[in-house]
Amino acid sequence: MTETHAADNTAEPFDAVDIIRTKRDKGALSPEQIDWTIDAYTRGAIADEQMAALNMAILLNGMDRTEIARWTAAMIASGERMDFSSLRRPDGGLKYTSDKHSTGGVGDKITLPLAPLVAVFGVAVPQLSGRGLGHTGGTLDKLESIPGWRASLSNDEILAQLQDVGAVICAAGAGLAPADKKLYALRDVTGTVEAIPLIASSIMSKKIAEGTGSLVLDVKVGSGAFMKDEAKARELAETMVALGQDAGVNTVALLTNMGTPLGLTAGNAIEVEESVEVLAGGGPADVVELTVRLAEEMLACAGVRDADPAAALKDGRAMDVWNRMIRAQGGDPAAKLPVARESEVVYAPADGVLVELDALSVGVAAWRLGAGRARKEDAVQAGAGVRMHAKPGAVVRAGEPLMTLLTDTPERFDRAKEALEHAAVIAPEGSRPAQRLIIDRIA
Ligand code: URA
Repeated sequence: MTETHAADNTAEPFDAVDIIRTKRDKGALSPEQIDWTIDAYTRGAIADEQMAALNMAILLNGMDRTEIARWTAAMIASGERMDFSSLRRPDGGLKYTSDKHSTGGVGDKITLPLAPLVAVFGVAVPQLSGRGLGHTGGTLDKLESIPGWRASLSNDEILAQLQDVGAVICAAGAGLAPADKKLYALRDVTGTVEAIPLIASSIMSKKIAEGTGSLVLDVKVGSGAFMKDEAKARELAETMVALGQDAGVNTVALLTNMGTPLGLTAGNAIEVEESVEVLAGGGPADVVELTVRLAEEMLACAGVRDADPAAALKDGRAMDVWNRMIRAQGGDPAAKLPVARESEVVYAPADGVLVELDALSVGVAAWRLGAGRARKEDAVQAGAGVRMHAKPGAVVRAGEPLMTLLTDTPERFDRAKEALEHAAVIAPEGSRPAQRLIIDRIA
């Protein structure tokens, strides 16, 4: 068998096999090797199997801070950078931009009320978002349940909407960090998503390329999150904050609990409905608490003092921006949202206190009901998902409804119920769930 690899191509300055061996043997890659690796992979001069081997070596042996910063910069350089420097908000002339990124969880609809809420205070929010894959939901899938709403905007449309409304939630264009798109798809099928240097550089390359002035990261910890344990989540948060600060983006992170779903809904249309409740001054306490806290962090990062985001949820100012934001993207904020054709109720098996409602189990159930997709080409059902009737801490009685499962395709109920078999833990009355929503702040 003839051995061929990149070294046979004399036009290339490095050999992919040498780079893999360096990382395999716990060495550090030089800046030039990193620049070449990202560029060569993007244009197809490094094969998928070589990149997969390198990703696995990075997952096992890590990268130092200099390597991660260079890897991130190389991914940014693989595409375009957005520029919001021409932005002048009419109210007060502020031209600061702030964004939030969540590492993903179950029932995490916070972006929906948060973006218009922050825009109330004159800070522009360019929220370039993604679709869900696996058990975690995607912001764009949720918003697409609003009749007429359009996720794809040109860069000019994004700028015009930021200028006009102050908030945009839309799909990240193909031009932003294209190296990440290719790399992420490969990591997804080679068991290498969980490498902290690769997650941190993937998220931060897109956020830095997006051109935001400041960034608040919501790093989730728990069964429904990427990072199941706190030490790993903390390491990821610290790595991303350092990358942001080094790139001149004012960045802070909150570590937040994803052991149980956020709010009382996990799905698409039902999460929009709950977000609108929050914008109307109501909604579940945990969703309100996290929305307000993240708004405070974003506003502080953007240099806005003395703002009261909780008041802007109560008095309708955030709802006004939401209505304008949805209309600007073709949606009708007053339209009736899609409703699933079929429903089935899951009942509490015993009397007591609900001490645990497992996020991963609920996320998998919502996904199996049709709210999420198994492959990125799949369509999602707008009405599917899980509506919860109790949160940890609630007293429940045997036979009371605990959750309602929603889908258009009832053959999905059995598999969803399987996922929920051990989701709820009910303990004797007087017990308390051991959960804090906001675990720590990292700056
Ligand atoms: N989200 C991303 O954008 N990239 C990752 O690697 C993980 C989560």
